[in-house]
Amino acid sequence: MKTIVLANQKGGVGKSAVGCQYAYYLADLGQRVIFIDLDHQMNSTRALIQNRRATVADFTSSELLDGQYEKLPGGDFVIVRGDDSLSRLERQPDNHNSYVNELKSFLETVSDQFDVCIIDTNPNPDIRYASALITSNYVLSPIQLNQEALDGIGSLLNHNRYGYRKIKAALNPTLELIGILPNMVEPTPFQRDNFKQLVTEFARLLINVDENSKQFAFIPKRSAIAEAQAEGLFLGDFKKTAARDAWREIKPSFDAVARYMKLEV
Ligand SMILES: Nc1ncnc2c1ncn2[C@@H]1O[C@H](COP(=O)(O)OP(=O)(O)OP(=O)(O)O)[C@@H](O)[C@H]1O
Ligand SMILES: [Mg+2]
Repeated sequence: MKTIVLANQKGGVGKSAVGCQYAYYLADLGQRVIFIDLDHQMNSTRALIQNRRATVADFTSSELLDGQYEKLPGGDFVIVRGDDSLSRLERQPDNHNSYVNELKSFLETVSDQFDVCIIDTNPNPDIRYASALITSNYVLSPIQLNQEALDGIGSLLNHNRYGYRKIKAALNPTLELIGILPNMVEPTPFQRDNFKQLVTEFARLLINVDENSKQFAFIPKRSAIAEAQAEGLFLGDFKKTAARDAWREIKPSFDAVARYMKLEV
């Protein structure tokens, strides 16, 4: 099983939407997927529990970190939902090591049952965020193309406690940054300039769609994505032309992420 965490310390950039759509995409390709929502806002939980393919575990993700979990339900697409108690974990510093160890041992326990684990995080760097980075193989970081988000890339990489480099060096040497994934991209001059700046300053953090072309993965802003997310549906299942067009634009980027994770899709 390969574990990927959606992470960005900035809120509202599309971590949950990308995470859920990527989960549906993989499930649709026959991958066995477990999704763990570590965000007490529960945006992913709300979306995923509506999806007819998904089975919801009896325990929540805070119970998982507390070691209070039972057997998972059967099924090839399982959701461990978030809950309100997640926000109290940060205030229990004596248990922080144990949260990391419980998550690690849970992932080991289910590793034969699933091909991929997707972890969604809350936007503030805290013990949940750290636990996910310490126990994952891959990080994917959706961003928006505004100056603040571009400035935030430094923190994603270099935050003194929770930056990717720190976690990789001190706690999880296997962690790999797949890259940053511009989301809600619009064809405005402003965003185009910001994309150029991103390519100039951070080209090696962008994800190549394929080795031959110089195309980078990105996700356009499309109302069909927000609709799919609100209804707990896979964009690729929509029949409307606008949604089909949106899916056609996005799929190569998801393919690139799956290839990076060496999934057999
Ligand atoms: N490419 C897109 N086009 C249109 N709407 C999008 C797109 N990506 C995400 N959205 C919508 O934008 C909103 C914010 O996205 P989302 O909840 O995924 O962000 P987030 O990073 O998980 O936020 P938070 O940090 O609060 O958890 C949601 O309503 C979502 O459906
Ligand atoms: Mg979210």
